[in-house]
Amino acid sequence: MRKTKLITALDLDLKQAEEIVYSLKNYVKYYKIGPVLFMQYGVKSIEMVKKYGGEVFLDLKLHDIPNTVKEAIEEANKLGIYSISVHTLGGPTMIKSAVNSAKKLKIWGVTILTSIDLIEFHRIGFRYSLEKQVQHLAKLANDTSLDGVIASPRELYYLRQTLGENIKIITPSIRLKPTSADDDQKRFMTPRQAKESGSDFIVVGRPITKAQNPIKAAQEILKEIE
Ligand code: C5P
Repeated sequence: MRKTKLITALDLDLKQAEEIVYSLKNYVKYYKIGPVLFMQYGVKSIEMVKKYGGEVFLDLKLHDIPNTVKEAIEEANKLGIYSISVHTLGGPTMIKSAVNSAKKLKIWGVTILTSIDLIEFHRIGFRYSLEKQVQHLAKLANDTSLDGVIASPRELYYLRQTLGENIKIITPSIRLKPTSADDDQKRFMTPRQAKESGSDFIVVGRPITKAQNPIKAAQEILKEIE
């Protein structure tokens, strides 16, 4: 049976993030640091997570010329983080230069951002269907030896079928149950559904960080993916 792991997304300021990591340190190993926390606090935010024994997924979605990405990954190696994201749209040469420069660091690829709807998708100039484009980029991720691909839960099942078991699949948009109407994650999966559909890592932010009791919320999620 697949072992699905929980990544808690720290979309918070440094003080709030530290409170969350401190309270979850005995339950959650992986934490996502995105561009907002990183722009404000940089390497300090990574050191804070490591201080409590956590592992960092640095979600900076790199998309640049191969040489710049290569040098960025060489610097990232020194940070002692677990994983970092790149855009598969950067192309095979860029992806390979990231993969080849990584030491222990895992490189995870984004396909098409789920915020891009069909109108935007066609305005950019893509000619495939959205599903086919995502599948194509995920296959590129697999062929270029990326360690993982970040996908929406709605893409999970067919990606797992297409990619087999060689590559990790990381899914955000996870909710325990339908939430309020103003929640921006409309098409979510529960942790259990994500596990059963083939997710290796689920990324959960607000259902934990904004919960009255973040420990209890994390425990409920962990119970579903046990
Ligand atoms: O708070 P919530 O659980 O929605 O956080 C999910 C995290 O995953 C956020 O950091 C968000 O930026 C990220 N994410 C997402 N949906 C995607 C891709 C990334 O929610 N399609």
